[in-house]
Amino acid sequence: MGHTVEIRNDSGSQLFTCVSGERLLYAGLSGGADLPYGCATGTCGNCRATLLSGEVETLWKEAPGSRALKKEGEILLCQSTPLRNCVLEARAGDSRHQRDTPMTHQASVSSVARDEDGLAWVVLKLQRPMRFLAGQFVLVSIPGVEGFRAYSPAHDGADVVELALLVREKPGGGVSPLLCGQQQVGTQVTVFGPLGTAHVHPAQDHDMAVLVGGSGAGVALSLLDWAKATGHLSRHRLDVVCGLRTLRSQQVIERLVEAAKSASENLRVVVALSDEPADADLPQAIPGLTYERGFVHELASELLSTEEWKKRAVFVAGPPPMVEASMRMLLLRAKLSPTKIRYDSFS
Ligand code: FES
Repeated sequence: MGHTVEIRNDSGSQLFTCVSGERLLYAGLSGGADLPYGCATGTCGNCRATLLSGEVETLWKEAPGSRALKKEGEILLCQSTPLRNCVLEARAGDSRHQRDTPMTHQASVSSVARDEDGLAWVVLKLQRPMRFLAGQFVLVSIPGVEGFRAYSPAHDGADVVELALLVREKPGGGVSPLLCGQQQVGTQVTVFGPLGTAHVHPAQDHDMAVLVGGSGAGVALSLLDWAKATGHLSRHRLDVVCGLRTLRSQQVIERLVEAAKSASENLRVVVALSDEPADADLPQAIPGLTYERGFVHELASELLSTEEWKKRAVFVAGPPPMVEASMRMLLLRAKLSPTKIRYDSFS
């Protein structure tokens, strides 16, 4: 039987049910509660809440996000499960723009295609459609590995039953080596989502810039797909700097080339190659897409003037060092207000 959970904040209180073993954050979001969160996997500390009464069990005691817990009784909603009825206090979340309520979906791995740079295109077949906004992410849990990992779909999210995720295989990692293996085709997995507030806001985002790296390239592909589906590029500018290790990241490069070929002159894509050997020839630029050697933040800093940056909604996604360097560039050189930047960090 489920436990009753009450979350209190300045705007009132919200009630939902959560069974022992289920995470408070996931049960609350599925139940329509507006809860604060960031990574949803124990890293950021954004989901902290104070337990006023009741009892919870912590599922991952060493979660890096627990460093954000300073006061007696504070817990992480994404790493806690109730043992009896609970009352908690938490900040309000920001689910105003959600396209769909986050839910648990059963899915199976339908295909895996790895490129030579260690990025894999993993397609999950969902048992029922999911709707999400470009830039959102989902959590995936695979049998035999504790917990969930976050991945960004690499396409727009209008009622999709095939979820294509860009996954970087991390040696020694828990989920990614399994997900990236051909032998996983047919494996049943659990998907929770959609999640994340670093997504497109269709009514207010006009000119945009997207700085991504590694598996964060999925965010750029998702926004490009959305822009194509909605005709956004006929009216507004979109600049993308996509960081990849080398030209061997063929699958992402092919999709970027495809997007550039079918888009208007309002799209500009820079493929930023961090590890391509200095003596290797780079492919010829095509209208709307160029290849450069260098890091995302360096190439992005040359892209726009301070005045132009100020007019953009900016999306940043990728490995933490890339995200941190890009944020520094945007805040210190481009003088952007933090409110203009939406970011996700994929460790
Ligand atoms: Fe990031 Fe819980 S949402 S630690």
